[in-house]
Amino acid sequence: MTPWAYPKLFAHRGGGRLAPENTLAAMKAGERAGFRAVEFDAKLSADGVVMLMHDDTLERTTSGRGAFATYAHEDLERLDAGTWFNASFANEPIPRMSSVMRFLHANGMNANIEIKPCPGREVETGERVAAIAKEITRQQLAKPLLSSFSVDALRAAARSAPSLPCALLVEYYTPLCDPVLEELRCVSLHCAHQSVSADMLKHLHQKKLRVLTYTVNDVETATRLFRLGVDGIFTDALPEMAAKFPQALTA
Ligand code: G3P
Ligand code: MG
Repeated sequence: MTPWAYPKLFAHRGGGRLAPENTLAAMKAGERAGFRAVEFDAKLSADGVVMLMHDDTLERTTSGRGAFATYAHEDLERLDAGTWFNASFANEPIPRMSSVMRFLHANGMNANIEIKPCPGREVETGERVAAIAKEITRQQLAKPLLSSFSVDALRAAARSAPSLPCALLVEYYTPLCDPVLEELRCVSLHCAHQSVSADMLKHLHQKKLRVLTYTVNDVETATRLFRLGVDGIFTDALPEMAAKFPQALTA
């Protein structure tokens, strides 16, 4: 296995259940909870700015309406992405990826950037995310890990920033993933924790790939997965996981 720069625990969407997902407040909550690695979702505004957002539509997590991809970044930045979670986060904005990366680096943290393109913008999103990640990490030792469910987005990212590590994100691993894992020289496979098996771990470890699983929110399941040989988990249960696995907070 090649050296691995990441902790076993990643704070899902920045701060898990502690703060509104994919905001700077979430990153700060993750940092305060002791996490040194976060996962977040990145997509493109209509005018090509990479911002953090999970859904293709604005309703669930912001004060906006309609499709994320139809708004320019200035309009997206005016939305309230905090109140849906709790009134104490009112007016928390949708952040740009570049601001979040600066915060993470200033606090000695690393990231798994999940490239989450809006439909039809796979290649452009992969390229932009990779370009920002490459530029921001040029002087840094810690490289963010780029992942995506979209092979087109991941391929575009890998082409734009061949020095950054890539991970294929799937719900269930099948051997049909192998050609993509090889083509993109992925360092890890990320899958739903329900789909992990000892055989699959053995097969992927033999191929020198790490296996990370989402989204693991109880310590019993995390204990079982770590014993089985899983290399990392994404979690929303930050205080519980930090208390149970303090050694997994750092690389
Ligand atoms: O990257 C792991 C996980 O975040 C994938 O699922 O829907 O939470 O982005 P989702
Ligand atoms: Mg995600």
